[in-house]
Amino acid sequence: MTTLGIAITGSGGATPDTSLDNDTLSQIVETSDEWIATRTGIRQRCLSGPEMPLSDLAAAAAREALEMAGLNPSEVDLVVLATSTPDDLFGSASRVQHSIGASQAVAFDLTAACSGFVFGLVTVAQFLRTGVYRNAVLIGADILSRWVDWSDRRTCVLFGDGAGAVVLQSTTEEEGLLGFELRSNGAQNKSLTLGYEPQAQALVEGLEVSQGNYGRIAMNGQEIYKFAVKKVPEAIEKALFRAQLTNADLDWLLLHQANQRILDAVAKRLNVPSEKVISNLARYGNTSAASIPLALDEAVRSHQIQTGDTIAASGFGAGLTWGAAILKWGGSV
Ligand code: ACO
Repeated sequence: MTTLGIAITGSGGATPDTSLDNDTLSQIVETSDEWIATRTGIRQRCLSGPEMPLSDLAAAAAREALEMAGLNPSEVDLVVLATSTPDDLFGSASRVQHSIGASQAVAFDLTAACSGFVFGLVTVAQFLRTGVYRNAVLIGADILSRWVDWSDRRTCVLFGDGAGAVVLQSTTEEEGLLGFELRSNGAQNKSLTLGYEPQAQALVEGLEVSQGNYGRIAMNGQEIYKFAVKKVPEAIEKALFRAQLTNADLDWLLLHQANQRILDAVAKRLNVPSEKVISNLARYGNTSAASIPLALDEAVRSHQIQTGDTIAASGFGAGLTWGAAILKWGGSV
């Protein structure tokens, strides 16, 4: 039996039309463009209005990816939506599946915060490698502005909204996922949360249920910074080892776009020169599960990333979760 590999054949991205720059943000909380830009590299972020469903953003990115791959939506077998901010807690992937016309596809959500895209990529790859599905769309999409505490200057300056997508197809030709490493550590869960806040409601005498709401994003920035700078290079090294490659074989380092200082520190530890580090966070901030596919799509469409390039992608964030995947880009614009 032939072993199937996966090919990454298309990418797409979508962001809301409205953007908020650091100067305007300074009218909301006590901060400045200078503080935000020097500590994070972020200059502005796109924000979704109240009328914008996450599934619309996700579907827009998915359509672009399908178009680049030259794949008809009716040929899609699997749609995976990596998100922490669904329109519906029961899941939003089916809405995306319907919206893009992937009528034959099975669709489900996957939650791993800012690691969601990398976790999703490895999950989808398992279905393609076994041959049960041939064509898949993986979307990373988040509207974190719904859950940001807009009075907390330590977090509200960091996040933005967006969606990115890729098409993954089974192949007997060149392999597109060369190695990976996925990790979780719930012991550090409290460092970054968006938790349910229970509120007791009595149904009858002696019987209470919880009818609470989700709170707001709470983060220990320094803990997350230390975690990312230590764990991300380790994960990439492991994924490279499994791919039988070294840092020198990488064309691009494509990290979750959390903070320019994290990108720089990880690149330095891995000895990857800055010109190989993909960065678009100045314009979008941290878009959680969307950040890697959104940056990938921009780099592909601007002809930075070329067919056959080797990319180390790494996501990290709440959970805590982190992971790395060594990819070969197989699409063409
Ligand atoms: N504007 C002005 N001052 C600020 C701001 C702000 N926006 N935010 C914090 N400060 C102040 C603090 O109040 C503090 O002042 P104090 O010393 O008087 O108390 C001072 O700046 C330093 O604060 P720190 O929190 O120590 O700042 P730090 O240098 O650690 O930078 C930052 C904060 C940018 C958040 C950094 O810790 C970081 O990037 N951490 C990683 C965060 C991250 O990537 N999170 C996303 C993970 S992905 C996911 O899963 C969602």
